[in-house]
Amino acid sequence: MSGNPEQTYRDVVMGRRSIRGYLDKPVPRALIEEVLEMAMRSPTSMNTQPWHFHVITGEPLDAIRRGNTERILAGEPDSREFRRGEPFAGVHRDRQVGVAKQLFGAMGIARDDKEARQDWVLRGFRQFDAPVCVIVTYDKELSGSDDTPFDCGAVTTALVNAAWSRGLGCVINSQGIMQSPVVREHAGIPDNQVIMKAVAMGWPDETFPANAVVSTRKSVEEAARFVGFD
Ligand SMILES: Cc1cc2nc3c(=O)[nH]c(=O)nc-3n(C[C@H](O)[C@H](O)[C@H](O)COP(=O)(O)O)c2cc1C
Repeated sequence: MSGNPEQTYRDVVMGRRSIRGYLDKPVPRALIEEVLEMAMRSPTSMNTQPWHFHVITGEPLDAIRRGNTERILAGEPDSREFRRGEPFAGVHRDRQVGVAKQLFGAMGIARDDKEARQDWVLRGFRQFDAPVCVIVTYDKELSGSDDTPFDCGAVTTALVNAAWSRGLGCVINSQGIMQSPVVREHAGIPDNQVIMKAVAMGWPDETFPANAVVSTRKSVEEAARFVGFD
């Protein structure tokens, strides 16, 4: 079995972090099936299980990487299929900038080094050169309900934790689906599914500096209110 069988649930969730550098080593299909099986124990609204996983490797994944990169460099606008709301402001913007500073700091990318920053962004569009990419989609007929993206988020978090428990790293990302028509074409995603998110997956490269970044969290005290406890 891959991963550390001694790990507790706490070890997995507290130890997991997003992985953005991978070894050039294939991931066995049976292992991916196992982590998907674990992830799919996630609860969903009325047990609807609206999700689908398109697990891509090899030439189709390379075609997606090429298509994404070409379209982005050609200035093609974002064609993601989910609502994005307003640009982040206030504390949300601060957190976004905070993690970016941690990542750029680890990678030694200076603030004014446009070329290195562009390389970093393009790396995301190439799915961080991971050997596997999982595209998470949902049934279009359920797209009117906020429960549906909620359920996809739950299963995707469970997926990255299940993968971590088996020694695999992941990064959930929106960059990989920036050019959703490219993904739809090369992954053969049917029109009755909405493309929600990408998950890059593979064996972590322990020498890749950004993989060591531990992002911060607000405290339980800041996030939670307890009512009726006293
Ligand atoms: C919905 C979602 C979208 C994300 N999109 C990206 C992305 O496009 N590129 C990227 O490098 N990381 C992306 N991430 C990873 C987050 O930056 C990361 O989860 C966050 O900074 C916390 O760090 P951690 O996962 O290491 O705990 C995304 C994560 C989520 C949940």
